[in-house]
Amino acid sequence: MSKILITGGAGYIGSHICKLLKKNNYEFIVLDNLSTGKKKYAKYGPLKIADLRNKKSLDRIFSKYKFESVIHLAAKCLVSESQEKYDEYYDNNVVGTINLLDCIVKYKVKNIVFSSSCAVYGNKNKKIRENLKLEPINVYGETKKICEEIIKTYSNTYKLNYVILRYFNAAGADIESEIGEDRDNETHLIPLIFEAIKRKRPVNVFGKNYDTKDKTCIRDYVHVLDIARAHLKSLRFLNKNKKSFIFNLGTGFGLSVLDIISLISKITNNKIRIKFASRREGDPSFLVANSSKIRNKLKFENKFSEPKVIIKTAWQWFKKIN
Ligand code: UFG
Repeated sequence: MSKILITGGAGYIGSHICKLLKKNNYEFIVLDNLSTGKKKYAKYGPLKIADLRNKKSLDRIFSKYKFESVIHLAAKCLVSESQEKYDEYYDNNVVGTINLLDCIVKYKVKNIVFSSSCAVYGNKNKKIRENLKLEPINVYGETKKICEEIIKTYSNTYKLNYVILRYFNAAGADIESEIGEDRDNETHLIPLIFEAIKRKRPVNVFGKNYDTKDKTCIRDYVHVLDIARAHLKSLRFLNKNKKSFIFNLGTGFGLSVLDIISLISKITNNKIRIKFASRREGDPSFLVANSSKIRNKLKFENKFSEPKVIIKTAWQWFKKIN
């Protein structure tokens, strides 16, 4: 089977994709600079420690292996951090992607699956279809929007097909608890609620005056295993059809911050105290997918994204590493 390069394969989402690639007998190489990813989670395939901004090391890897496809996840991906360290976000995400695309063209790679985000849309007060105008309200979303444009340009100019997946909120963990979310400086809601339970302290709820049913932000939480499955489906699609597409990857079902807290309280059987704090910079109030396009075109259905399954697998993982 042909070789695949997966950038960011030591990270939370990347490691789940690698586990699934291995299970399906794909041959792949992981590229990661280990800035947020961890070596111990790059355990399903060979790891090359390299940074996308280093053109020489990229060239060395591409010249050694004959890749047919690239799955490109490597990026900085925190909304609030991107508002402060915007230069690092442009450098990592945009310059890194251009360097990668230059190698893709030079070494005649046929396909790219690109990890984009619902952060490209900005504030829309309805379920989001792919054809809505992209109006990001944070630098992270802006960098993903720019990368999408650049990928389209390379695809129009060279023989390169792409699937761009706009993930909504990735959550949950491996069913067998081999991998899951494990960041040094956690900022995500679900693991922070678990942390609050463990330390018997209140959860900060950022903002209580959004224009939503309970005044807190609404997100579409999609299981990381479904995100991984969508990548394999996209690869197979690209190998069969020489066409390019952009898809939302969500569930179409929104949960507020307070909904998540109450669900976790129920599932883990813990009382959770909350503390309202001010809004977090760059947070849209409502991000929920219309996911009919991926269902129709790729025949892709989520299997693990029931909120209960998300919370149970994430909790099981959290207990394992804590
Ligand atoms: N939140 C809190 N308290 C916390 C942490 C988060 O109230 O302690 C809120 C946030 O304000 C937000 C929601 O919970 O409203 C979800 O926040 P996360 O940090 O878990 O996720 P984000 O929506 O900010 O960002 C994540 C990824 C991005 C991706 C985005 C898509 O980090 O890469 O989902 O929505 F773009």
